[in-house]
Amino acid sequence: MTQHQRLLIIDFGSQVTQLIARRLRELNVYCEIHPYNRVDDAFLRDFAPKAVILSGGPDSVTRPGSPRAPESLWTFGVPVLGICYGQQTMMTQLGGLVESGHGTAEFGRAFVTPANGDLPILNGWFDQGREQVWMSHGDHVSKIAPGFTVYGTSPNAPFAITADVARNFYAVQFHPEVHHTPKGAKLYENFVKLAGFTGDWTMASYREDAIAKIRAQVGDKKVICALSGGVDSSVAAILIHEAIGEQLTCVFVDHGLLRLNEAQEVVSMFREAYNLPLIHADESDLFLGALEGVSDPEVKRKTIGRLFIDVFQKYANEIDGAEFLAQGTLYPDVIESVSFSGGPSVTIKSHHNVGGLPEKMGMKLVEPLRELFKDEVRALGRELGLPEKFIRRHPFPGPGLAIRCPGEITREKLEILRRADAVYIDQIRKHGLYDEIWQAFAAILPMRTVGVMGDGRTYDYAVGLRAVTSVDGMTADYYPFTHDFLGETATRIINEVKGVNRVFYDVTSKPPGTIELE
Ligand code: XMP
Repeated sequence: MTQHQRLLIIDFGSQVTQLIARRLRELNVYCEIHPYNRVDDAFLRDFAPKAVILSGGPDSVTRPGSPRAPESLWTFGVPVLGICYGQQTMMTQLGGLVESGHGTAEFGRAFVTPANGDLPILNGWFDQGREQVWMSHGDHVSKIAPGFTVYGTSPNAPFAITADVARNFYAVQFHPEVHHTPKGAKLYENFVKLAGFTGDWTMASYREDAIAKIRAQVGDKKVICALSGGVDSSVAAILIHEAIGEQLTCVFVDHGLLRLNEAQEVVSMFREAYNLPLIHADESDLFLGALEGVSDPEVKRKTIGRLFIDVFQKYANEIDGAEFLAQGTLYPDVIESVSFSGGPSVTIKSHHNVGGLPEKMGMKLVEPLRELFKDEVRALGRELGLPEKFIRRHPFPGPGLAIRCPGEITREKLEILRRADAVYIDQIRKHGLYDEIWQAFAAILPMRTVGVMGDGRTYDYAVGLRAVTSVDGMTADYYPFTHDFLGETATRIINEVKGVNRVFYDVTSKPPGTIELE
């Protein structure tokens, strides 16, 4: 098994630490984020990074007891890049001075200009004489540490870029990871190059390593996997299948809340194209029966979550000797975040996925995607030959159409919803808009309204259309369809879907709305 070259990101709690990892992964550099309070001298030794990046963070290095990098880092002998708070702790720990206040805070766009000659991490930076960067700091360095030289300044940050080239320490006040620092990616590229990274983190090598790891972990035992048809569980299943073949059985729980033809498509793709042992657990009667008369969104979610676990367990028990449970856990779910706020946050929605399964079932976990970000999972999916159309599918929530049917769920409403949704998505695809949109779907609203069709009165359902742009589903904006598109889509839905006589378009952003209706 190859051991990738590794870069360690020490997290001081910045909102954008994950972006540093993203930029590095784009450069085929393997990196991990670890919170500062977990990185001690022993950790550093064991991790054996080829380079270290110190992230930004919300604290002030002037506060007694504020976070620091481990002292051994300064003699560890690898290049270190400090960003914002990371820069300030580097300066403080190496004998410089950082001060708070006095109108030196700087938030937003700034321009740095070069000083004192070239610096390898700034190759290609100052072609225009100055370069735009994104600042976000309350404190500032007032005296640089011995051995450091200034290589870039901005009006409010005289020590915007500093370095001790002899010791390979680099420090920047701004955030190269955000896209408002247009040449930020170049800075990371220069940094990893000087640290000797060869770009050995590719999906082809990941695939090989992951397969070897799965084989080593599982041996000749059996694995079961809850396959939802989403990208993560699908990629995990295909990868595990490639590693251990028939030792894997997938269970596809069909709760009767899937989209038009979805169950058949998933089952035929995995059984036929991938030859994967798959149990199609058609339990729609059970789920829809339990949901009868339920209109409270949280009760719906909890009912579905609970039944899902019961059903999965029932089918899993039938597989003799299964010791492992496969999960499509991704890296963002594993990163331990540095929490400064402490208190519990409010539950907006009880998310349903297979998260509750492991505790219930007492099985060992196989999580081959634990080191990947979402777009890396897509890249791995391509590597494994999954069709592009499938890889680019919009996210679909675990509770399915239940949360797109506010109020009581009936089979009649679900059927109308499925058909309206299919027409809407067809429209979006036909107009070439699918890939511009994070998520688009129809919802059936809990009301009937009066209309007129031909010469007759109608009293039918109203359908709500939603389409949002987003980068992570945490915040979102509605997609600005043209009026022509909306008009054409409404006409098609009303003409093609019996039971609908009115169509609304949802123009709420998140916040204050959420993406799903419930
Ligand atoms: P909201 O509605 O909270 O949705 O703005 C944010 C994103 O999460 C998806 N979502 C879910 N995904 N289980 C899931 O796996 C769930 O219970 C669930 N609820 C919402 C939603 O589709 C959107 O992408």
